Amino acid sequence: MRLGKYNFARRDFLKGAGAAILGGRNLWAQPVLASDTPGDQSAAVSFDPHSFLFNGKRKLLISGELHYARSTRAMWPALLDRSKALGLNCIATYVFWNLHEPERDVYDFAGERDLGHFLELCKAREIYVFLRVGPYCCAEWNYGGYPPYLRDEPNITIRTMSPPYLARVEKYFERLANEVNPHLATRGGPVALIQVENEYANVAKRYGPQGQEYLRWMAHLAKQVGFADVPTTMCEGAAGGPISTVNGFEITAKRIEEFRSKNDRDPLLWTELYPSWYDTWGVKRETGVVDNTKEWRPLWGRDPRSMALAILTFLANGGAGWNYYMWHGGTNFGRNSMYLQTTSYDFRTALDEYGRPTLKGVYLGRLHKAIQTCEAWFLEGKVSSTVTPAGAQRFAWNLNGREVVLTLDYEPGALNGPDPHAKSAKIVGPEGKTIFDTQGDLVETQAAWKAPAWEPIHSAPLQWHAWSEPMPPSRAQKAVHSSQPVEQLLLTKDHTDYCWYSTKIDVKTAGPQELLIPYGGDFFYIYLDGKLAAQTTAPLKEDRGPITPEDPAHPRINANSLESRSTDGYRHEFNLSDVVVGTHRLDILATALGMIKGDWQIASPMNFERKGIWEGVLLNGAQLNDWDMIPFLAGETIGLVKQASSIQWSTLGAPKPLCWYKTEFQLSAGTLAADADYRLNAAGLGKGMLFLNGHGVGRHWLVVSPGPDNLPTQQFYHLPKSWLSTENTLIVFEEQAASPKAVQLERRRAGAASI
Ligand code: GAL
Repeated sequence: MRLGKYNFARRDFLKGAGAAILGGRNLWAQPVLASDTPGDQSAAVSFDPHSFLFNGKRKLLISGELHYARSTRAMWPALLDRSKALGLNCIATYVFWNLHEPERDVYDFAGERDLGHFLELCKAREIYVFLRVGPYCCAEWNYGGYPPYLRDEPNITIRTMSPPYLARVEKYFERLANEVNPHLATRGGPVALIQVENEYANVAKRYGPQGQEYLRWMAHLAKQVGFADVPTTMCEGAAGGPISTVNGFEITAKRIEEFRSKNDRDPLLWTELYPSWYDTWGVKRETGVVDNTKEWRPLWGRDPRSMALAILTFLANGGAGWNYYMWHGGTNFGRNSMYLQTTSYDFRTALDEYGRPTLKGVYLGRLHKAIQTCEAWFLEGKVSSTVTPAGAQRFAWNLNGREVVLTLDYEPGALNGPDPHAKSAKIVGPEGKTIFDTQGDLVETQAAWKAPAWEPIHSAPLQWHAWSEPMPPSRAQKAVHSSQPVEQLLLTKDHTDYCWYSTKIDVKTAGPQELLIPYGGDFFYIYLDGKLAAQTTAPLKEDRGPITPEDPAHPRINANSLESRSTDGYRHEFNLSDVVVGTHRLDILATALGMIKGDWQIASPMNFERKGIWEGVLLNGAQLNDWDMIPFLAGETIGLVKQASSIQWSTLGAPKPLCWYKTEFQLSAGTLAADADYRLNAAGLGKGMLFLNGHGVGRHWLVVSPGPDNLPTQQFYHLPKSWLSTENTLIVFEEQAASPKAVQLERRRAGAASI
């Protein structure tokens, strides 16, 4: 640690924004290369408490999070070009372990997973990269980025000092380093910062001193594999040397003061600045009103003025860099979503799901330009602050006799309030002119803004064919037999969402029967004698409480307030009506909706994650025995999606549950040549999965989000252009009795939304 090296003569520089004289940044101590390596002004990347330095030059880090795994390789160049044009000098991305180790000991860094190529594209555009390598990521991604196989490693506890866990992390990091290290800034590459672990504070209480030791072990591993040749970071709960960083909707002066009271070594880096939030099935989180069926509303999600105010406040209080989480949210293709996360990860942010700048993006671009004009003042000027007679905060940065003035006029802590119109901030540049005004710039951006329009690409309805998914009796030879239901992931290893649980029930008294799955995940269909009799009621809970019953041998630790929110999050109760006396066949289809992203969703370490049924099934209070489990759909087992042309499809009949649907459509070479985005309007569908030309588009679910309009949580699904060709096959697996007849393909041509 070089902490002792600094003599912070002006350590009180952040004591209360209103009163303090904020120390001139150029008075500060020697920068250091990384957390505990010797200082070097000419290092590719270094830092001191004021800012980061690139080749010895101070720079504000204006970064946006863009996960290469949430777009296609073909989209990466345009995403980066647009980000740069909107003023970013850095791109942050998580590196999802399960993307690169899809099977135990099978590593994949090619094609759509070609991290090296992504980094080269950044380098070619002179964009720095803030690589968030995990091993734990969170991010609403399946299993928070962990490979599902980890769950079943003998004696593992994930995210703490557990030897089986550490061994897998070490092996992966060594492999990952081969890909990453040639791209480190110290070797002329774009990777300037590396984050290890993620928001450990959320789970720290559970793992106690062992958890802290694990963080130190991670910091050491980062060094051992060479990542720490550039500065390493840990957000929200650092230990062991990496730069400690903060996340939130806003970082108030008070929060900075608290941070500084514990840390006077690191620059202030805001690693997650939220432009809005993600959606889960059945819950659309909005700060504004959205109507998916009508014109796109530019101000949906968090108001960009609130973001600008938060950024300027942070800057005024010594902020050295910020990262929008997300900058481009993108899409959770295939089965990449965490439990309950929608396929879209739009995040109502700067670049929309398809990668086009939104009004918010253009507005933030204006803010970035204004800030960059005055960057030298913010980084090297001597700053003083006063309160104006009207009660606004006035910050003035003086550099060589010229001033930049920022006036902040709002109540701190009220950024997400209902009336951002009343709040404002203005930057007056060194020439004495207003160069950014939260309100005025929005008015101008809006005036120039044209909403992009979607249009159908076919006038006649699509022609569909069907293939009925067979019920379990016809697949009995595939069944695993056991007296009690076997937990789903033991059978599927998360290679499918689906698993059948079948048995027989004896009904002695006619009438309604109560079927109870006390611990089950995630969504169930109950078939009696081959007919759908009941199903789970939506919406499901995101944080479901303890995933196993109380075990006196292992007293539960609540690490997080989210963990005690629910006690019956896995309980599925069904009333089967009008069942006649006799023996009946019971088939339960368990459908998973993604693995959890963190401990707090199950109030246990992540290796406790479970799907399907794991504590038996009760009929009228009595346990049911003698179960057959069939993992995978028949359509999956025969490879229906890849072999669509060799399947015997029938013409479309009346809607019934559990059907695969196929349609073929053509696009002319001229159409494909145009710069456009494509989506599927899933009108009329229920719940299941979508595939385009063999690629997993994602899970679909038209479940309604309760709200003023009662609209589906997600009706539109991104069809990446690079997956389209002149001859196309679209396949839907539909769990419910829903028809594909109203489904439409739509396109949005570039123009209005492009920059
Ligand atoms: C943070 C986490 C991110 C992401 C975000 C919510 O707590 O670090 O990975 O999950 O929340 O979108």
